Amino acid sequence: MIENDIIKKRILVIGSNGMLGQHITEFYNKSDKVELMCVSVEENSFIPDVQYKQVDISQKDQVKQVILNFFPDVIINTAAFTNVDKSETEKETAWKINVGGVENIALYSWTIDAHLIHFSTDYIFDGKNGPYTEDDKPNPIGYYGRTKLASENSIRVSGTRYTIIRSNVLYGPSKYGRPDFVKWVINSLQNGERICIVTDQIGNPTYIDDLVDAVNKIIEFKKEGIFNIGGREMISRFDFTIRIAKYFGLDEKLIVPILTKELNQPASRPLKSGLITIKAETEIGFKPHKIEETFFLMQKD
Ligand SMILES: NC(=O)c1ccc[n+]([C@@H]2O[C@H](COP(=O)([O-])OP(=O)(O)OC[C@H]3O[C@@H](n4cnc5c(N)ncnc54)[C@H](OP(=O)(O)O)[C@@H]3O)[C@@H](O)[C@H]2O)c1
Repeated sequence: MIENDIIKKRILVIGSNGMLGQHITEFYNKSDKVELMCVSVEENSFIPDVQYKQVDISQKDQVKQVILNFFPDVIINTAAFTNVDKSETEKETAWKINVGGVENIALYSWTIDAHLIHFSTDYIFDGKNGPYTEDDKPNPIGYYGRTKLASENSIRVSGTRYTIIRSNVLYGPSKYGRPDFVKWVINSLQNGERICIVTDQIGNPTYIDDLVDAVNKIIEFKKEGIFNIGGREMISRFDFTIRIAKYFGLDEKLIVPILTKELNQPASRPLKSGLITIKAETEIGFKPHKIEETFFLMQKD
């Protein structure tokens, strides 16, 4: 939690109903050092007992109103059009939210001199030569990645104080909405369903609560710039799934190895990806849990 501040820090969480947004909201809702305001595109907040407003980030006036009225010290933007395949066919919507929406947020963040924290992805890279550092050259191979890279660029030129956090393969249970990858694997295997999992997509899956901890440290230490935040191990999606099955005592034989190209998905995926986190480890003391430790923590939730 943020310590030593006599006056409460005002934090605005944008996209608070999303998978990551819910975790950030719950974390700061427990803090008596923070005055929290949450916004998302739905009419109501999924998390009860928070100050909430319905805001569509692609609508400049709505963004202006909430930011100028609440006057946050920190704006945490988790809102995005996150459907990678639909981004290929619904390009206009993806751009309007991921780039136009972020431009709106950055503009009013700059106006009030707030610290904008924004989330990006390893999908800005082509996956030929990962894992990647913060300084590697982006080269997105899908439209979602292009919009996320453009969102980074629009923040960088906006003049606002910013931190861009790049992450990959988020997991950890959210109370509302779709199940995360781990829960989906557990549910499928418990129901005796065969699941086809790719052997050729490599990354470092990120436990959401480790990411929330990193966000809090970034705010605490007032760190700006780009930070990679990811899990401890570079691992294929197939091997990660086997580790889930082993830990939760489920039938590994139901997990069928497959190659990405066999899935015929509309969007290309970066294959040899993942994010090197040495900068975060050194500058903010980021120390992600081991994979099996995160499974243990998930069981307690
Ligand atoms: N999940 C991952 O593995 C992953 C990996 C790397 C980076 N990231 C990044 O991390 C961030 C959070 O991801 P997530 O997995 O938590 O995504 P998510 O669950 O899809 O949450 C995004 C939230 O934004 C909301 N939203 C969409 N359009 C909006 C608009 N116009 N105005 C306001 N809110 C809007 C969504 O509402 P609806 O659901 O109703 O559309 C949803 O509640 C994103 O920036 C994403 O690119 C995610």
